[in-house]
Amino acid sequence: MKTDKSDKKGAFRDVKKKIERRNMSTQLLVSVKDITTEIINLHSEIKGLFIGSLERAIRIGELLFQEKKAIPHGKFLSWIEKELPFKTRTAQNYMEVYKNREWANTQLLAYSDNHRELNSVYLMLKEGKKEEKELQSEKAREDLRQKGKDYIPGEEIKVIQGDFREITKQFPDNYFDHILTDPPYPGEYLPLWSDLGRIANRILKPSGFLIAYSGQFYLDKVMSMLSEHLEYYWLIVILHTLRTDIIQKNIGNYLRTILIFQKPPIQKQEKYITDLIPATPKQKELHSWQQTENGMNELLDKFTHIGDLILDPFAGSGTTLVSCRKNKRRCIGIEIEKRNVEIIKGRLVIVG
Ligand SMILES: C[S@@+](CC[C@H](N)C(=O)[O-])C[C@H]1O[C@@H](n2cnc3c(N)ncnc32)[C@H](O)[C@@H]1O
Repeated sequence: MKTDKSDKKGAFRDVKKKIERRNMSTQLLVSVKDITTEIINLHSEIKGLFIGSLERAIRIGELLFQEKKAIPHGKFLSWIEKELPFKTRTAQNYMEVYKNREWANTQLLAYSDNHRELNSVYLMLKEGKKEEKELQSEKAREDLRQKGKDYIPGEEIKVIQGDFREITKQFPDNYFDHILTDPPYPGEYLPLWSDLGRIANRILKPSGFLIAYSGQFYLDKVMSMLSEHLEYYWLIVILHTLRTDIIQKNIGNYLRTILIFQKPPIQKQEKYITDLIPATPKQKELHSWQQTENGMNELLDKFTHIGDLILDPFAGSGTTLVSCRKNKRRCIGIEIEKRNVEIIKGRLVIVG
């Protein structure tokens, strides 16, 4: 009798569990269905919102043109600053949209109801953001070029415009304590590495380091070219937190490699160092290949001394020179592009 009772209790518990399970999965189904419906609704609303925003932007542009005509000449910009919750730049954008309204409308009509339509919207937004960033960078570069007009070459930090293969002819043998540089990465510049190794071997003091940022595409070739003139010492790595996708190799790249070669005789640096530099956010405002000051500071600290004379034969926007100034090293930078030299001068005026 006892067994019967407990069997019944067990069977009852099983049925209860089954019901509970079915209720849970029904609830789950309901919530999955709710989520799906909401996503579909939002997806279809996005098109409407986008078109609505564009129509409103066109209308604002039209009103701005009307107001510009109505108020006295020369008062329009101050009216925007005083009365409207956005800057004149935004007003100009609205007016541009209005001027291009026919094109904008044809773009909207051309959108079909598939995901490519959304991609185009996102691309437009992304492009707009990129353009805005590029405008800000151009302004920063132009400000620096203006400041650069006040540049007076100093005894300790100097920039020279020209091709390093020519300019370095003026320096005697064994002149520089170290070279810290960042040559261009694309394949067409590869032969420059051989010149760099040869010239470094002449103008570096014995045991002077050549510290060179290098991409990983041609690392084997670069190393063999440098090895013809200098001794390989070590490899330092900057570990970035953001990846760059290398499409050709299907690789997400986090590492920036820095080659350390030395003019014989090999002599170790005084300090105990590690071969990893933690990255700080990339700085690309002044040059598309600009390096961070943090990386340069760390390399100067690891391999050089206060008062050392450093050469950067590929100065770009001048990060090595700025970093040398801040770390009390002397430095000569060479850069082939006049526009970059003007930026370097501006940066040097600012760091003093
Ligand atoms: C990778 S960028 C240097 C970027 C720099 N580290 C910075 O933070 O701005 C290399 C630079 O080398 C310059 N360059 C290329 N060939 C050169 C040459 N033969 N002599 C001197 N500079 C050269 C390019 O104009 C470019 O600005």
